[in-house]
Amino acid sequence: MDDQQSPAAGGVGGADPVLEVRDVSVHFGGVSALSGVSLSVRAGEVTGLIGPNGAGKTTLFNVVSGLQRPDRGTVRIAGRDVTGLGPHRRARLGLARTFQRLELFSNLSSEDNVRVGLEARRRGRRRLPLLGGAERVPGGAATALLERVGAGEAAGRPVNSLPTGTARLVELARALAISPQVLLLDEPCSGLDDHESVGLGRLLRELADEGRAVLLVEHDMDLVLDVCDVVYVLDFGEIIASGTPAEIRLHPAVQAAYLGQLSDGTGTSGGGAGIE
Ligand SMILES: Nc1ncnc2c1ncn2[C@@H]1O[C@H](COP(=O)(O)OP(=O)(O)O)[C@@H](O)[C@H]1O
Ligand SMILES: [Mg+2]
Repeated sequence: MDDQQSPAAGGVGGADPVLEVRDVSVHFGGVSALSGVSLSVRAGEVTGLIGPNGAGKTTLFNVVSGLQRPDRGTVRIAGRDVTGLGPHRRARLGLARTFQRLELFSNLSSEDNVRVGLEARRRGRRRLPLLGGAERVPGGAATALLERVGAGEAAGRPVNSLPTGTARLVELARALAISPQVLLLDEPCSGLDDHESVGLGRLLRELADEGRAVLLVEHDMDLVLDVCDVVYVLDFGEIIASGTPAEIRLHPAVQAAYLGQLSDGTGTSGGGAGIE
């Protein structure tokens, strides 16, 4: 891939990766969590990252968001090398994420949690339009974001009183509050019912269509194969396959290492049988 310097804003469906991971390796003691991982995430696309538990998906998110320093390799956002930058600097460059284990202020209301994100946005730069007029009114913007993710009814409730699935949506609303150019989602569907997952998939497409780059870690294969433009498969810390959902579905290594194993060994999960 070229090292493009231009930001990907406005590059819906364009060629410039807004997030580039190059040759990243991470070791924990004797465990090689990531080994020579490279991937590109483009504006206007939803990029999937799948792989069995322990494959290194969350570790990769930690490297991209600045919580984990890689032993080797680089991370670029809109062409800028951010490998040495901390999480807050990356957030200001338009990177937002959700966590596999939720990271919210549990005593605060959903609305206040989203306000924290909106406050961060005021100090950031180079944002894409998010909600039109509503975003000029912080209270209204927080509520509108919660409604957008399907958690409007939770606005006044403390996060610790919510079902996990709803709390995940609140965390997504908070991530959206900075109007990210790059959005990392770590298993956003766990705790959601089928109906909510379909709604979330639709939202992810919308976010990509607005020109954002979305990187999705998710075990719900129906959602991944339905929503993603490109899918990477991570296994034991290495990318073993990448391609369109149609290619990934049929890839022999994926069938053997992932789909086959997790769909009762039949290897015939062409319909995107649910995983986990
Ligand atoms: N902070 C850590 N310290 C030690 N080992 C870790 C740490 N984080 C992750 N690991 C190990 O790294 C590997 C990848 O984990 P993880 O990135 O959480 O995988 P995934 O998200 O794909 O399930 C696993 O073997 C895990 O036990
Ligand atoms: Mg994980």
